[in-house]
Amino acid sequence: MAKVNRFFAGKTLGILTGGGDTPALNASIEALKARAEILGFNVYGIGRGWKGLLEEGDIVDLTHIPYDGWYGGTALRSSRTNPMPTKKNPVDRSPQVLQNLKRYGIDVLVTIGGDDTNGAARKLYEKEGIPVIGFPKTIDNDVRTHTIHNYQGSEIETCLCPGFPSAAQNVAYFTSKICTTARSHSRIMVLEVMGRDAGWLTGAATFGGAAMALIPEYEMTPDKIEQFYAKVDEMYKNSKDKYLILAVAEGTRWFNKNTGKAEIVCASTEVDEFGHPRLGGISGIIASDIEKRLKIETRSQVIGYYARSGQCSEYDKRYVNILADKALDLLLREDFGKMPVLKHLTSLIELEEFHTFAMDMGQVENKPLPIEYYDAANFNFSEKYTHFLGHFTQKPQGAFHSFDFPKVFPKA
Ligand code: F6P
Repeated sequence: MAKVNRFFAGKTLGILTGGGDTPALNASIEALKARAEILGFNVYGIGRGWKGLLEEGDIVDLTHIPYDGWYGGTALRSSRTNPMPTKKNPVDRSPQVLQNLKRYGIDVLVTIGGDDTNGAARKLYEKEGIPVIGFPKTIDNDVRTHTIHNYQGSEIETCLCPGFPSAAQNVAYFTSKICTTARSHSRIMVLEVMGRDAGWLTGAATFGGAAMALIPEYEMTPDKIEQFYAKVDEMYKNSKDKYLILAVAEGTRWFNKNTGKAEIVCASTEVDEFGHPRLGGISGIIASDIEKRLKIETRSQVIGYYARSGQCSEYDKRYVNILADKALDLLLREDFGKMPVLKHLTSLIELEEFHTFAMDMGQVENKPLPIEYYDAANFNFSEKYTHFLGHFTQKPQGAFHSFDFPKVFPKA
């Protein structure tokens, strides 16, 4: 190890976090920083994603300074800045990034992000030869990681992005709590869960007691909407305790009578620098429809940022450590333009570096929920998804508590 230290001494590694935050970002920074320091690097933190490499730059020195990885979010802060030319901002700001990497003496860049942040990093690597290592994250879990899920002898290509395990646990807990109020009032509760293009996170509500779920991958055409409401009616009437939790991904494509198409519901017409609109409102539409059609008292509740808030889960903490072990391997071999990912889906106790591999950043892309994980006939997640989720999410205790009192009749 002493030899290695001499080799990288005097070199600087910069870390940035871009896009929506997750509870596992500080843990990722801590894990990467620790390993880079072992190799002898100075470690700089770049503030607010790509924004910290524009104009004058926004850089802090993290070298040998204690860092708390359990605390959620990112101490480096984040933004949805895109240095590459876009429709919203046609100016190519990548020359500013290159200039700042030079000015601050950053030799290697690690970009912790989803497909947007790592997509920009890949372009810098491919076009400009900047030594870059990508590091995955997203609570939406929609970045392809080429992870294999073994289910009863068959193999399913799944995804596991750091941050998703913590967010899934949050969604499961939140849903289990909502059950008590829904049940007290014999209501249907429509829970809106983050997930712009994919339903991975919405599925976590099933661990907390959601009986049905809608996802962006399954377009709600007029026919399907009719089937859905018929099923909701049946499920509510057949439910022993007369309440129902429906989980709905914020990005569910819902038939819009005005345009004649199944579309996302937006909270604002503004788009970010990657062209993404701000979503929100689908749960309110469904809740008021249910009241009108089925005459069942219904409320909507947006889980929103709760899903990505709070501390890192134990699984995520261990997970980012083994991915950082793989990143250390890439740093040692100066093998850039790669991103460490999990090869085989494993439970916490089996999470080891040998289950990881480094994928080419050229292959970074979105991946929707595998078709096998959704039971379209019942508007619910399948047993295969439950098996997947069970690797890193616990069922909240007491979520399914049941009271059973004998009924009393008039004496005469
Ligand atoms: O990062 C993904 C995500 O959490 C999406 O699920 C959600 O649509 C979006 O971020 C919200 O982004 P912002 O915090 O920028 O409003």
